[in-house]
Amino acid sequence: MPALLCTCLVGPTPEYALLAAQTNLQFSDIFELRLDRILVRDGSILDDSLSVGSPQASPTNSLTATSRTLADAVLSLGLPIILTVRHQADGGAWPRHREADRFALIEDLIDFYGADPRVVFDIDIEASTVRLADRGIDYAAADRAATRLALARQGGAGANREKSSTRKVPTLIRSVHIFEPGIGVAEAADELAAITRRLPVGGLAKLAVTPAGLGDIVRLFEVGGSIARLAAGRAGEDGSAPAFVLIGMGEFGVATRILAARMGSAWTYATPPGAGQPAAAGQLTPEDLCKMYRFRSLSPQTTIFGIIGNPVAHSRSPQWHNAVFAERSLDAVYIPVLAESADKALALANLLDIRGFSVTVPHKEAVRDWLAAEDEGTRIAGACNTVFRTERGWQGVNTDIPGLLDPLPADIRGTVLVLGAGGAARAALAGLAPKGLQIILANRTLERAQQLAAEFADRLDSTARIRPIRLEPEELAQLGDNERIELIIQTTSLGMKDELDPSEGYRFRGFETAYDIVYNRGLTPFLKRAQAAGCRILEGGGMFEAQARLQSEIFVRVAARREQEST
Ligand code: ATR
Repeated sequence: MPALLCTCLVGPTPEYALLAAQTNLQFSDIFELRLDRILVRDGSILDDSLSVGSPQASPTNSLTATSRTLADAVLSLGLPIILTVRHQADGGAWPRHREADRFALIEDLIDFYGADPRVVFDIDIEASTVRLADRGIDYAAADRAATRLALARQGGAGANREKSSTRKVPTLIRSVHIFEPGIGVAEAADELAAITRRLPVGGLAKLAVTPAGLGDIVRLFEVGGSIARLAAGRAGEDGSAPAFVLIGMGEFGVATRILAARMGSAWTYATPPGAGQPAAAGQLTPEDLCKMYRFRSLSPQTTIFGIIGNPVAHSRSPQWHNAVFAERSLDAVYIPVLAESADKALALANLLDIRGFSVTVPHKEAVRDWLAAEDEGTRIAGACNTVFRTERGWQGVNTDIPGLLDPLPADIRGTVLVLGAGGAARAALAGLAPKGLQIILANRTLERAQQLAAEFADRLDSTARIRPIRLEPEELAQLGDNERIELIIQTTSLGMKDELDPSEGYRFRGFETAYDIVYNRGLTPFLKRAQAAGCRILEGGGMFEAQARLQSEIFVRVAARREQEST
């Protein structure tokens, strides 16, 4: 079953929250009104001034009125809503010293909406086993509010049943948020069970923990899977499993949000952009989830692909590969996976039956340990950027190399100058050295260039010669008199940001092709100088697209095969 998409309305004002609801209606199944963030600004509760010294008005009267106006306006859009007033200790904005007012507001809202089946309350709960210090939350009041809600719902259920035209949502959410990295992950199953015990029938248990690494994400998916199996075993008794939402917060947790259906979560949370504060790491917008990840069509059967690396947040690959899957109408999704090690990514792949990964820095070498077979490029480069499952195990292909060669003329001759000796230079050498070209490898750290040249000399049985030199203006000034340099490939991280030119000292003759494979946002100083000298210039974007296109062909084939297998 697909999971629902809950759009969080977080302010900064009630007007802005309503606007966000309207503009995200098409992407949403539920709205969460984060009243703590909508009603609190810079630590102060809105409208406080109105109630000060006014004996008739309790401090919450005006807050209740504001909350109701907003809740009614959002309800009129036709979707169910969750009302949440979260305490600071749970990651909310409600000030610690105003706990009594928080519950006054919650109870007022229960009096108004308690019997309305379109309205769900999220009331925090004490974490059972891993709760750290006293966090200043009045959990007894939370329990009382939950009981009050249950009574209101019992009384109103019959009267309101016909009114409910929306998809069935739980009565009550009880939630635990743990922000200390790694805490509560090992105990996640017990935590969820403990929360579930404090729920009325039809309630939902929510646990949000902070993974310390991808290993914790593996654990969370194991927990989700075991609850699903438990539920399947129980079908027939009461037919229903306790509903839950299990989230890994932060960037490691992105998979738990996109793959909510796979996790078994009832819904995922997403926050519209520009809501007064920068989006937290790992948070996705409703639009990205729906358009890029096709969230609404994802199910536990969807074939999963992804990109592993550290960092991965800014990768363009998810956009690219998901668009291809959509175009081909394949039930497949491609997700970013922040991974501290290749091993952890393999553990996730085994658990979720992930069928392929793009691999980026720093895992391109380590993934070779998984491989049952690899292509020649991977062997020569000693690095792999594409892995996928076959019947015989994982296979590795290096599409960086043909991607890098793609924009170049087929008949390069003479000498090639490669600037830099990192991972990108490795792909350049692997692509060019087997062609028998002479290569000058210039790097700031000469030893690194020497090491790379020696490594390639061992692997290559061609006449290629790689001459390592130090990357410095005096050395570069010597080049070009005794050899004809037709191609210069820039692979260092020097360029746009710092406006530096790694080729300083080199005199362009005008017949060189200058290729910057690192940057793709306008002309770097290196490309500008080459262009001014009459050289042909190539920017890095072509390489990304060419390697991504080759990867796509592989992933599409793998996804299509899996679909055939399962029909
Ligand atoms: P990638 O995998 O993207 O190639 P990398 O392995 O970190 O990234 O390599 C970065 C390259 O940029 C290296 O060749 C590095 O030179 P060193 O081996 O001497 O570190 C080069 N580089 C980074 N900063 C540089 C700078 N300020 N001047 C010259 N070269 C620089």
